[in-house]
Amino acid sequence: MFFKMLIKTVLTALALWPVVLSPVPVRSLSPSLNDDVLGLIVFKADLQDAKQKLASWNEDDDNPCDWVGVKCNPRSKRVTELLLDGFSLSGRIGRGLLQLQFLRKLSLANNNLTGSISPSLARLESLRIIDLTGNSLSGSVPDDFFGQCGSLRAISLARNQFSGKIPGSLGSCSSLAAINLSSNQFSGSLPAEIWTMSGLRSLDLSGNLLQGEIPKGGFEALSNLRVINLSRNQLSGELPDGIGSCLLLRSIDLSENLLSGYLPETMQKLSLCSYLNLSKNSFAGEVPQWIGEMRSLETLDFSLNMFSGQVPDSIGNLNSLKVLNFSTNRLTGTLPESMGNSAGLLALDFSQNSMTGDLPGWIFRSSMQQVSLADNRLSGDAKVPISTVTVNSLQNIQALDLSGNDFSGEIPNGIGALSSLQHLNLSRNSLFGRIPSSMGQLKILNVLDLSHNRLNGSIPVEIGGAYALKELWLESNFLEGNIPTSIEKCTLVTCLILSQNTLTGPIPVTLAKLTDLQDVDLSLNRLSGTLPKQLANLPHLLSFNISHNNLQGELPAGGFFNTISPTAVSGNPSLCGSAVNRSCPAVLPKPIVLNPNSSSDSTSGELPANVGHRRIILSISALIAIGAAAFIVVGVIAITVLNLRVRSSTSRSAAAIALSGGDEFSQSPTTDANSGKLVMFSGEPDFSTGAHALLNKDCELGRGGFGAVYRTVLQDGRPVAIKKLIVSSLVKSQHDFEREVKKLGKVKHPNLVALEGYYWTPSLQLLIYEYVCGGSLYKHLHEGSGENYLSWNERFNIILGTAKSLAHLHQSNIIHCNIKSSNVLIDSSGEAKVGDFGLVRLLPMLDRYVLSSKIQSALGYMAPEFACRTVKITEKCDVYGFGVLVLEVVAGKRPVEYMEDDVVVLCDMVRTALEEGKVEECVDGRLQGKLPAEEAVPVMKLGLICTSQVPSHRPDMGEVVNILEMIRCPSEGQELG
Ligand SMILES: *[C@@H]1O[C@H](CO)[C@@H](O)[C@H](O)[C@H]1NC(C)=O
Ligand SMILES: *[C@@H]1O[C@H](CO)[C@@H](O)[C@H](O)[C@H]1NC(C)=O
Ligand SMILES: *[C@@H]1O[C@H](CO)[C@@H](O)[C@H](O)[C@H]1NC(C)=O
Repeated sequence: MFFKMLIKTVLTALALWPVVLSPVPVRSLSPSLNDDVLGLIVFKADLQDAKQKLASWNEDDDNPCDWVGVKCNPRSKRVTELLLDGFSLSGRIGRGLLQLQFLRKLSLANNNLTGSISPSLARLESLRIIDLTGNSLSGSVPDDFFGQCGSLRAISLARNQFSGKIPGSLGSCSSLAAINLSSNQFSGSLPAEIWTMSGLRSLDLSGNLLQGEIPKGGFEALSNLRVINLSRNQLSGELPDGIGSCLLLRSIDLSENLLSGYLPETMQKLSLCSYLNLSKNSFAGEVPQWIGEMRSLETLDFSLNMFSGQVPDSIGNLNSLKVLNFSTNRLTGTLPESMGNSAGLLALDFSQNSMTGDLPGWIFRSSMQQVSLADNRLSGDAKVPISTVTVNSLQNIQALDLSGNDFSGEIPNGIGALSSLQHLNLSRNSLFGRIPSSMGQLKILNVLDLSHNRLNGSIPVEIGGAYALKELWLESNFLEGNIPTSIEKCTLVTCLILSQNTLTGPIPVTLAKLTDLQDVDLSLNRLSGTLPKQLANLPHLLSFNISHNNLQGELPAGGFFNTISPTAVSGNPSLCGSAVNRSCPAVLPKPIVLNPNSSSDSTSGELPANVGHRRIILSISALIAIGAAAFIVVGVIAITVLNLRVRSSTSRSAAAIALSGGDEFSQSPTTDANSGKLVMFSGEPDFSTGAHALLNKDCELGRGGFGAVYRTVLQDGRPVAIKKLIVSSLVKSQHDFEREVKKLGKVKHPNLVALEGYYWTPSLQLLIYEYVCGGSLYKHLHEGSGENYLSWNERFNIILGTAKSLAHLHQSNIIHCNIKSSNVLIDSSGEAKVGDFGLVRLLPMLDRYVLSSKIQSALGYMAPEFACRTVKITEKCDVYGFGVLVLEVVAGKRPVEYMEDDVVVLCDMVRTALEEGKVEECVDGRLQGKLPAEEAVPVMKLGLICTSQVPSHRPDMGEVVNILEMIRCPSEGQELG
């Protein structure tokens, strides 16, 4: 109990003590107290022990020797080692440690300790080893940290965030043998004292911000130095001669500095040195002849310097050499033959020099694992050395990079025997011939780069055998034939670059199975066919270039393809989709159709529930019933011309028309007699002569969303068609009505049914049209007798005429909005005349639900955007309806045919047939064999394009007319995809 209280007191005291804790006052508190327990408990109090690793450290113990991480001298029971490496401790290194009088080894490596280092730590008399590697300690190391360093042998502060200068007091630590300050932010120049530390065996100051030169006499005193690593600093100047005095040096790493000048000759005395790395400096001169004296060298790295001249033959004396890297220098001459002696060589890199001559055979004679001779001026037939070596000696090679030389000849089939090969780069040479099928035997090949050669033939099917492939680069060769579907076996491929060849055929669907694909470049080939839709499912795609091929059809939708760059798909004239800004026939809409098998609201999937459109959701059977009822109720409608004041547009004449009969519009002749107003645009007072017209059921020509049409005869015997509008309740005012009708009256076109006049009363509106005798297109198509059907020429003319009329309407800013075969009339000479145009303008507003209900009879012609409240209704609605009409005319089928329990949507049917290559089978059976397929097929494709789901993908009617005219005389126009 007392002990606990004491600890509390001490902890409090420690917290308040502003200066270094001296052991004396604590001891004086209680002579019986174990200093070590106290020190450790105080030390623990400064830490956060997230993983409870120090749970065994109990303040009630009077013996800490069994605590985790603590070691004691067995006799004195005093703590000698504290080994808390990787205990996930955080917090600060507190003063409690200073209590551990007999501590020899302190390892707190690989924790998350923060704060600065205690200035007194090195003063602990017994401390030999301090290892604080891998924490987050920061601040500078105090100048006199090593001032009284007692018996310190090794210190590591590596991988912390210490900064400031390396303290010069280091020099007074005569017992210090190993200093590791690597991977901090120490800056400034090296303290001069460091070069006096004759006991130093290992010095690692790598990965700091140290600057300045190594002094002339540097190294001379360090006769015990075995390992030096000054890599990754900013040291400059020359390497002093003194380095040759460090005869015990085994490892020298001076890489990544700014050192320059020639290598001191004294280095040849370093015969124990096995590791010499001078990479990434500015050393110059020739590779010295004496290098052959450094007999123990296993790794020699002179890469990224400015060494020039020839490599001396003496290099062949380095019998232990395993890794030789001379890359990126200015070396010339041939690869020394003497190196054939280095039987243990594993890796050889001469890339980026100016070496000349042949590929020496010894490269394949040793235990060699990695060879890079890239970007030199080596030449000759690469086949010779590869094919002359024995299979056994090839078993080890893992990486072979001969790229960027002048090698010629064929790739030998024997390459398949390099069974350890993981990386093969033969790119940018002048290799020719075929890619050997033996490539497929390279089971662990990751990277194959044969790009920029003159290889021909096809990509071998056997490539699928190289199933570890991650990158396949074959661009810029003369490869032909198909992309082999066997590529699907290379499931790890991320990078597939086949551009600039003459590959043909389709892009295999199997490509979509390579789910790791990131970069695909198939550009500048002659690939054809459509793009597999499944490609859109590739999850990791970063680039996909198929530009400049003959691909056609629809770009895949979704995934990467939603944002594909237009340049990646350009140069494929028959490709369609938004990325190429060309509408697709294949992106087909579902027309708004009513489901015949269900009734009421449950079928409203295509239209939002809304009072205004309730009627459209009726079942088909209900529609039929309603239609029949209306027919009976209407009965006979008579129009009597009562009034002679018929006005022309110049108001010269007017007539009042009254109705008699049993329909809902029937009026008393007298009430309306004076308010009625008749206007004939022609100005001729034909109608004014008191003629008595009877609009009765027998004269009814047809009826549509806007009303029934009757035939009647003017007094001069000329027949006219009179449309009785049933939108009266919607027409806003007489003024609006007259303005719109007059506008429609001005629209004249040979393919439009002329509007000749109108009659207006508040409750009854009539439109007077030119009478077209031949009946509607609908009748000709669907109700004609077997013998009497429209010929192909007639049909084509009707399509063209209809297109022209719509183009004309659109030019006049009028949307027809109700295009369908029953609104296209045929005159006596077989010419199409489109009627019923522009009537939506008579509605007070273009409410699409009113509209939908008005034209509900136009089932199947309705553009999909009608179903969408936010999309503006534009001319493109007409293009859609026209597209459906085109298909109807060619196929001789209704846009939507209701079978017993199936709905057949014409454009779906034609599209499917097109995809299956059987589009000809869609042509009206009566025309089979009697029409030019070269006209019918493109016309159907045009119809499909016009029925694109997205309005902007549909052409405008002017374009449609042009296309149709081109189809008519294909020799003069472009072919339609
Ligand atoms: C180390 O400690 C710092 C500050 O306490 C904390 O932000 C960081 O996440 C810790 N790192 C690890 C690896 O525990
Ligand atoms: C210095 O410490 C780092 C980090 O722990 C280690 O990787 C390196 O090998 C050490 N240097 C020497 C010369 O032992
Ligand atoms: C020298 O230090 C650097 C950076 O700390 C390290 O990457 C390198 O491996 C070290 N060299 C040797 C030979 O250990």
